[in-house]
Amino acid sequence: MNVANQIMSATNPLVALLGDYKSNHVGYIYSMNFLDACVLTNDAWKERVAGIPHNSFLVAASFDPSRMAEIHEFDREVILLRVLGPSGLPTDADILRTMIEHNQRRTHDEVFTIDQLDGHDPMTHAELQYAALKCRILGTFYIENGELRLGSDLENYVSCSRLRVFKPRDKALAAIVNHINPEVRNKALEEAKKSGFSGLPTPIQIGTVRYTSTARLHRGEGEELVPVMIQPSDFLARRTAVLGMTRTGKSNTVKTTVASVAIAALKDSIKVGQIIFDLNGEYANANHQDDGSSIAEVFGEDCIRYRAIDTPGFEDLRTNFYVETAQGLNLIQSLYHMDPSPFTGQDIDAFMGSSLDEPDISDHGEHTRWERRKAVFQCILHKAGYTAPANFLVKIPIAAALTRQIRTFANSQTSQIQVTIPTSTNVPLTEACSWFETIRNINLRIKDAQRASSRSVIGLESSTQGNSWVDNMLEAYLNILARENSKHQGFGGYRAIVNYSAYHSPRRTADVVGEVISHLVDGKIVILDLSAGPVSVRSVLSKRIAGQIFAQSFDVMNSGKVPPNMVIYAEEAHNIIGKKDDLADVWPRIAKEGAKAKIAFVYATQEPSSIHPNILANTENWFVTHLNNDDELKALGKFYDFNDFHDSLKCAQDVGFARIKTLSSPFVIPTQINRFTPSDLKNLLAEIKRPNDNAQKLLMLFTQRKKE
Ligand SMILES: Nc1ncnc2c1ncn2[C@@H]1O[C@H](COP(=O)(O)OP(=O)(O)OP(=O)(O)O)[C@@H](O)[C@H]1O
Ligand SMILES: [Mg+2]
Repeated sequence: MNVANQIMSATNPLVALLGDYKSNHVGYIYSMNFLDACVLTNDAWKERVAGIPHNSFLVAASFDPSRMAEIHEFDREVILLRVLGPSGLPTDADILRTMIEHNQRRTHDEVFTIDQLDGHDPMTHAELQYAALKCRILGTFYIENGELRLGSDLENYVSCSRLRVFKPRDKALAAIVNHINPEVRNKALEEAKKSGFSGLPTPIQIGTVRYTSTARLHRGEGEELVPVMIQPSDFLARRTAVLGMTRTGKSNTVKTTVASVAIAALKDSIKVGQIIFDLNGEYANANHQDDGSSIAEVFGEDCIRYRAIDTPGFEDLRTNFYVETAQGLNLIQSLYHMDPSPFTGQDIDAFMGSSLDEPDISDHGEHTRWERRKAVFQCILHKAGYTAPANFLVKIPIAAALTRQIRTFANSQTSQIQVTIPTSTNVPLTEACSWFETIRNINLRIKDAQRASSRSVIGLESSTQGNSWVDNMLEAYLNILARENSKHQGFGGYRAIVNYSAYHSPRRTADVVGEVISHLVDGKIVILDLSAGPVSVRSVLSKRIAGQIFAQSFDVMNSGKVPPNMVIYAEEAHNIIGKKDDLADVWPRIAKEGAKAKIAFVYATQEPSSIHPNILANTENWFVTHLNNDDELKALGKFYDFNDFHDSLKCAQDVGFARIKTLSSPFVIPTQINRFTPSDLKNLLAEIKRPNDNAQKLLMLFTQRKKE
């Protein structure tokens, strides 16, 4: 080999794709078109490369790798193939006849005398070993501006093909499965910079190439396991589907993804908030099932866990209805509408349609009316059995004009009404309850009297003369508190909300949603453990939190600022972004539009066919493990080259054996996902967080000089 050839062969990236070409050669292309190629191969060549499994990658080139300095421009490309199955040869009928006749002629003694030739003469044996493989053309590698590029089709093919076929292994295979085109890399870099990364985030190994369930040869001893890397930037502001039957490794994939994103963010000192809607409590708790590992265990203080019941180590997911009255009422209303209680009536309808959102303080009249309603709401909670925070005081209205009217009316009655006017504006709940009942009672009596004497019925008068102090909404609230309507007929009143007390927590001092969002903005991992506590908490609380994350990120975006990086993980996604779900609902909107506001959405489900087709069609990354029926496989087969994996996905039930299509890669890569291993991750985290040696040395020099 001359020197130019030697240098070119050693450095040309096209040659690197063939690997050790002398031992990797497996055949010749004898027929092809733009889509498929037929490869003539031989049993002996297959044996040399540890077999050619179904769906394995092959590469074809028509150059001599040892004479790269001399090769024709036309030949400077490597074609990437995927093995689909057998193909026909003109000699097939002869081979078939020979094989059958040979076996028919065997004597009984020959059954177990098996050697390499198995009774054939060497010439026949050599002929019989040839067979053909049908392969899909996945693309063409070539050099553009000095860099390796993969075009995802074939530009030209010749009739008299000189293409030699090789099975890429170890480094060659790694280069193929982890190849990213320069333009895709540049785009990813641009996106990563927008998300705050200083450069392209370091790719993270998610698994190793695995073609078939039987992995005796291609992943056997002596064969390098080839790493499959993922780009953390593929996830940011993208949609990712994790699909597969139960117990085939979906959650494991999600855990690995969470860890990858967190580590990439940590390495580049940027903030990516990640929130997991953990239906089964498997991310929040160690020793869950047989797993014994959890995200929380690995990420320690960077991971905040929430639950809807009191548990040490967990924040409370529930709202304090006494403090966050607007949120509390809102939640009560959602629950009431989801599961209508038997308590109905005009006042309850009014209550369930009202709002406790605080009006602008400058609108004095409106703000005062809101304060009154809020105070009555707190009393209603108390009556309905919602535990109040310790020493809770209600701010009540005791303006002089009001108390004067009440006293005057009480004293004017023949059978005197006893009224006790509170002496403070902040009183305990029981005192507040009886004060509001007094107000209600007097107000209704004044109204009755006004009605009887045909005067205008306004009851207690507000400071603006002629207006009712008790407006219609306040009257409905007071009636609920008293369990009696304005016509003095009894009804369920506050009992309508008794069943929802499990959603309230007296422990909280701030709104849980705001707190969760602030953790996310701070780049933490938030786990909402929805496995414990009331079952209906799942949809109501999670929808509320998801909705507000979405709304806040959009607000930030609409105000012209850059929204924070967030990743939302949801399990059992068919329940929230199902086929029949309204695309205007919270979850479908997150899935569909979240990317615009830098919200990434990762969803896991066993039933891809039940996901809304619009969302499936907009999904950029796919992780698919075993699916057991044709309907699901058909739904999946519509996307990318997943159809090639129809048979393999249906029969291979191996845990973690996934077919992966990521945004940066143009084709599906069959991969054995790594098992989520907390111990390795903890070591890696410690390594990243350790101040590096150089920094230490610089610090030492600096302090020494100061002393001098
Ligand atoms: N890549 C893997 N390698 C080894 N073991 C794995 C791998 N992935 C998952 N497992 C193990 O298989 C079991 C099931 O995995 P996992 O909980 O991730 O499945 P799943 O698809 O989420 O199941 P479900 O549908 O019940 O939620 C766990 O014990 C897990 O540790
Ligand atoms: Mg799971």
